[in-house]
Amino acid sequence: MVDQNRAPLWEALQRYKDLNRESYHVPGHKNGRIFPKEAREIFREILKIDATEIDGLDDLHHPAGVIRAAEGLARDHFGSEETHFLVNGSTSGNLAMILAVCRRGSRVLVQRNAHKSVMHGLELAGVEPVFLSPEWEEETGRFSDFTAQRVQEGYEQFPDASALIVTYPDYFGRTYDLEAIVRFAHDKGMPVLVDEAHGVHFSLHDNFPKDALSTGADVVVQSAHKMAPAMTMGAYIHIQGSLVSRERLRSKLQVVQSSSPSYPILASLDLARNYLAEWKEGNLFSFLKKVREELDSFTDQWEVSSRTEKDDLLKVSIRPASIDGFTLASMLEEQGVYPEMATSKEVLLTFGLEVSEMWAKDKDAFKEVSRLLQNEEKHAKIKGADIAFPAVGQLDATYEEMERMPTFVVDLEDAIGYLAAEAVIPYPPGIPIVLKGERIRSEQVEMISILLKQQATFQNENIETSLTIFEEAWS
Ligand SMILES: Cc1ncc(COP(=O)(O)O)c(C=O)c1O
Repeated sequence: MVDQNRAPLWEALQRYKDLNRESYHVPGHKNGRIFPKEAREIFREILKIDATEIDGLDDLHHPAGVIRAAEGLARDHFGSEETHFLVNGSTSGNLAMILAVCRRGSRVLVQRNAHKSVMHGLELAGVEPVFLSPEWEEETGRFSDFTAQRVQEGYEQFPDASALIVTYPDYFGRTYDLEAIVRFAHDKGMPVLVDEAHGVHFSLHDNFPKDALSTGADVVVQSAHKMAPAMTMGAYIHIQGSLVSRERLRSKLQVVQSSSPSYPILASLDLARNYLAEWKEGNLFSFLKKVREELDSFTDQWEVSSRTEKDDLLKVSIRPASIDGFTLASMLEEQGVYPEMATSKEVLLTFGLEVSEMWAKDKDAFKEVSRLLQNEEKHAKIKGADIAFPAVGQLDATYEEMERMPTFVVDLEDAIGYLAAEAVIPYPPGIPIVLKGERIRSEQVEMISILLKQQATFQNENIETSLTIFEEAWS
């Protein structure tokens, strides 16, 4: 049994690097010797461990050596029964868990405000999703409260539902009573699949919200790269209990993951687990409190949102009084500070798991922006881009029907009443406003127009002018 203070995969890669063997195998950069000159300097050290599945380095898809040991340590640290490393982010974890659990044509309950990877998983699995909307919360100013009662409402209308897929926490770090939801779902025999992309650190301390595995959820996906120190794309998938087949999950992981996984990413997952296992609170929570107090004291032109036990303290959001969040984010960027995300109403800052030594300097940028805000012309109250979705709703066509329908492009305003052939997704946060297969409502078009005016970024081509819809018999 290896200790949590070891990092077996990382250690094996160090040994591999030190052996400095001649490479007559892939990758073609030959341990970094063959590489564009202008980038060689920066890539050099990383390319030395950008290896392939040679002796001693194990195989992600059939782990029996150091990857197995590293995944075992992650399993023990997070308290799951089986853990796998993911090299294509939570995106691949969400796809794999949905494909493993949801059979073609089966009914599945899905929290509506989910990341697009969940929506893509539903489409690939060919399920019949039933979308459940969270309730409005004054405290957050968003539809953020997902309740067991809402799940029950969905289940009562669709008692043949075979699984529940939720997002916990949301992008802002807000959680809800997942334990009650898991209890209800398990009582009905439904496994609960959790996209916990933003909560890899929750199990570290009681000051963070409860982590999904300890609520009894069956499969949990976490982006290690979002809130822990791992390389981008590094993520974990955990499984526990007997409701989900481990063989099916392993087999779907082979479908969605590369057969040549990146060893630097895998090693960073091993190291991130080691970091989390050894993490100490230090002065982190008092530092975060101070940050919030300081931000609050700079101006009455913004409000620093309150934080409760439902919120991740590493996320701080600022709501400006007289400008929209996108404008505030640009003002901060002009001062050299890059926030995580902006929406119509707020700007989200994400802190790391350690006291930031940069804060003493960076807070001046916030001070400067707050000074500029004092001189801002007062605008009418910002038009928030909020929209209520049905408590329990379905798509207006099955994925199979959508496969057969031709598509065409119309002006955005003319799309109202038609079936969307593409999801409309502002990014970040990557949560669709319009779902593919949903009949487009005027409120959705209005919301898109507001966001476009506020310079939000969309992952749709030409959304400023047009939208792709399905051609269907329309009366
Ligand atoms: C809630 C949520 N789930 C899943 C993802 C996808 O994660 P990844 O970037 O690790 O693939 C994101 C990305 O932003 C997300 O916000």
